[in-house]
Amino acid sequence: MYANLTVMKFFIDTANLAQITEANDLGILDGVTTNPSLMAKEGIAGEAAVLKHYIDICNIVDGDVSAEVISTDYEGMIAEGEKLAALHQNIVVKIPMIKDGIKAIKYFSSKGIRTNCTLIFSSGQAILAAKAGATYISPFVGRLDDISYDGMQLIAEISQIFTVQGYQTQILAASIRNPIHIIKSAQYGAHVITSPLSAILALLNHPLTDKGLAQFLADHKKANS
Ligand code: E4P
Repeated sequence: MYANLTVMKFFIDTANLAQITEANDLGILDGVTTNPSLMAKEGIAGEAAVLKHYIDICNIVDGDVSAEVISTDYEGMIAEGEKLAALHQNIVVKIPMIKDGIKAIKYFSSKGIRTNCTLIFSSGQAILAAKAGATYISPFVGRLDDISYDGMQLIAEISQIFTVQGYQTQILAASIRNPIHIIKSAQYGAHVITSPLSAILALLNHPLTDKGLAQFLADHKKANS
């Protein structure tokens, strides 16, 4: 029994504008997730630059863009989240799975501000974030695999729980590392995957496709020469 009753959305997990543009040009992009590490990787530092970068991303993609708060206390998360949400209608405030984060998610939910609860590594955390009214929860599949837990099994378990309970919170499979993670996420009922561009593009590949296309083109050339 799985949660998903809609077509799984594709988000890209990067703050790199060129990669966001490439994925968007492919015509399959539904949104973007970022985090402080991804912003730092692009050399985006300082509040003004960070806020501008979120607007730049929103101007490329017509879909939800997760922008993460840096504060870890309730008041700080509220102040930061309200500022982020005011940037653009597609901004989703990304909140860490901590005690004050749950309180902040509840607050934002009551104000109609959408949230993505990040750093989810257990079904208990997923239930708590959903109960608080998170729009999305982000279970980190790859980081669980890294420590010998089955990340995909967590997606299946949360999917089953959300179906049984009727939670409206969407399961956003995060920390995706390879195309199998994407395929299994679809199989297990994730509502969304967020992935590096490389894993999305890896879905294209099959040696028999390459071999078959080469044969078709060779046969066409022979017949027309
Ligand atoms: C989620 O939104 C995070 O940005 C992300 O998926 C983390 O993935 P990583 O484990 O590859 O850093």
